[in-house]
Amino acid sequence: MKDDEIELCTFVKKINMQLLDGRATADEIKKELAAAVIERKKEGKKIPHLAAILVGNDGGSLTYVGAKVKACEQIGFESTLIRYDDSVPEEVLLAKVQSLNEDKSIDGFIVQLPLPAHIDELKVTKAIDPKKDVDGFHPVNLGNMVLNLPGFLPATPAGILELIKRNNIQTEGKNCVIIGRSNIVGTPLSIMLGRNTNPGNCTVTLAHSRTENLKEICLTADILIAAIGQPNFVTADMVKSGAVIIDVGTTRIEDATKARGWRLCGDVEFASVSEKCSFITPVPGGVGPMTIASLMINTLKAMELKGK
Ligand code: GUN
Repeated sequence: MKDDEIELCTFVKKINMQLLDGRATADEIKKELAAAVIERKKEGKKIPHLAAILVGNDGGSLTYVGAKVKACEQIGFESTLIRYDDSVPEEVLLAKVQSLNEDKSIDGFIVQLPLPAHIDELKVTKAIDPKKDVDGFHPVNLGNMVLNLPGFLPATPAGILELIKRNNIQTEGKNCVIIGRSNIVGTPLSIMLGRNTNPGNCTVTLAHSRTENLKEICLTADILIAAIGQPNFVTADMVKSGAVIIDVGTTRIEDATKARGWRLCGDVEFASVSEKCSFITPVPGGVGPMTIASLMINTLKAMELKGK
């Protein structure tokens, strides 16, 4: 166990709340997927193959893509990492996307975001074949999600729902406040939690930078989800007693006590908020591992949809 994990465990024992352990839940999912791979091998079926395109050397993106490749190895999926320099022209990236669309050995692929400013992210996302879009970012998959039709669900929102489900947290009829309306987290999550599904059936408020009376709105939340990328933004005075707290933030902040000089910090002030809530996700080890587990689920699904 790492030092910060020991500190967290000691702290959790002192207070009356439960940690939503995304790492443990994701490990459970990865074991299930590994068993499915073994079964497929026995039957002589194809092994899922995920490709990832990474542009540039952003530290966060390198970590996330590295974790995705590692998860493939743990499960027994094949993986291919394609890297480009920051200066890669948009046409080169689009041509690679096209070749992955046509490559029969690749079941699904992702283009890690954000991309450099000279590349149009939407154009790249729209160029991905929706049947291989295991991130669930293509407008066709987002449209299917809104209509509750089959397709790929975006990985972070799907991971949050799976974490809620596997920890038996009831959502029906609850007030859910989401802070942050990004295309890949807040906006799709607001729809997924409002749908007539389980988890779902919440009354959802999607708060953002123009929201007035944010504190009062947050205080109505039975489930509060922070996805704005601002370290320690949610403080205890914004949280209703007994609320469920999901922290999507993963900002690198300076930390001289760490050998690498930084640590990951969530959008929620963990120490004070955890004293008031019923459940909370830690950072790291909460939503992050669940995002990767969802991507793995989507990759297996992409291959199964091809009837292989
Ligand atoms: N950047 C931040 N989160 C994600 C993700 O889930 N997928 C991709 N492709 N890029 C991201």
